[in-house]
Amino acid sequence: MNQHTNAKLTVVGAGYVGSTCAHLAALKDLAPEICLIDIAEGRPQGIALDMNQSAAVEGFSSRIVGTNDPRDTYDSDVFIVTAGLPRKPGMSRSDLLEVNGKVMQSVAEYIRAGSPEAVVIVVTNPLDSMVTLMRHCLAFPSRRVIGMAGVLDAARYSWFISEATGAAVQDVDAMVLGAHGDSMVPMPDRCTVNGIGVLDLVDRDAVEAMGERTKTGGGEIVKLLKTGSAWYAPASASVAMAASVLRDERRMMPCACLLNGEYGLENLYMGVPAILGRGGVERIVELPLKTESRALLQKTAGAIHDDVLAMRDLGLF
Ligand code: 2OP
Repeated sequence: MNQHTNAKLTVVGAGYVGSTCAHLAALKDLAPEICLIDIAEGRPQGIALDMNQSAAVEGFSSRIVGTNDPRDTYDSDVFIVTAGLPRKPGMSRSDLLEVNGKVMQSVAEYIRAGSPEAVVIVVTNPLDSMVTLMRHCLAFPSRRVIGMAGVLDAARYSWFISEATGAAVQDVDAMVLGAHGDSMVPMPDRCTVNGIGVLDLVDRDAVEAMGERTKTGGGEIVKLLKTGSAWYAPASASVAMAASVLRDERRMMPCACLLNGEYGLENLYMGVPAILGRGGVERIVELPLKTESRALLQKTAGAIHDDVLAMRDLGLF
């Protein structure tokens, strides 16, 4: 088992994504206390009790505290915010703006009141807008408010590349930039299998088809499930980001960061490669892009900006 830090992790929302995050974090002994908060009475308490009862078998020492009381989250070092509604078949992530926007506002209130030094990882959809709103409500330095999407999208791309090449998924490194939506920008030229360019292993059309499948990867699962959306890979991605912060691992991960001039964009949250450590975003990496990718990035930035304007119209900020 990995040695845990002395930090406190809070997972907001005890739905499938949130409870899987709490479970994975406990299995990894990420923190001595993992707080799981939800507005549904009894649900986080029941899930916490169930998970704590698995500790004897799994051998982890993290303790999960299930609660409906925001004060139990106070003094958290890291938050993973999953609260809100998931998509139903036929819905786009943007259809969730208003309902989930209100959830972000109320969660931000207690994060700000009780954990003013925390790093906050937003998972709730529509991701790029919700992280924008969360940052606005918290008024924290932008390095401490990050969105989870690129790790998930790249993991999906990696899985498709692994299946197509026959290579172990652990050897695949895939890269996706931009929004967590259909306008995201898979980067076939940046995908490798243990250092070998994927384009040396599979023809470009096939890699591009995998990129297209990645773009609608979340929707593919929504369609199959009929109720709700994916949770295992989203939770794995969120916990990997939280681990990099809590343990100061400084892993390089694509995540939604506030851009201030990088990629020619100002004051916009978008998925880009970044190093995550104890202070949150330690460094944003700006890749040199070909004209075509730059144009796609402008397009995805436009889609994010439209949602931000829609939030303004809804009076969310
Ligand atoms: C997904 O892509 C939930 O947006 C998340 O599955």
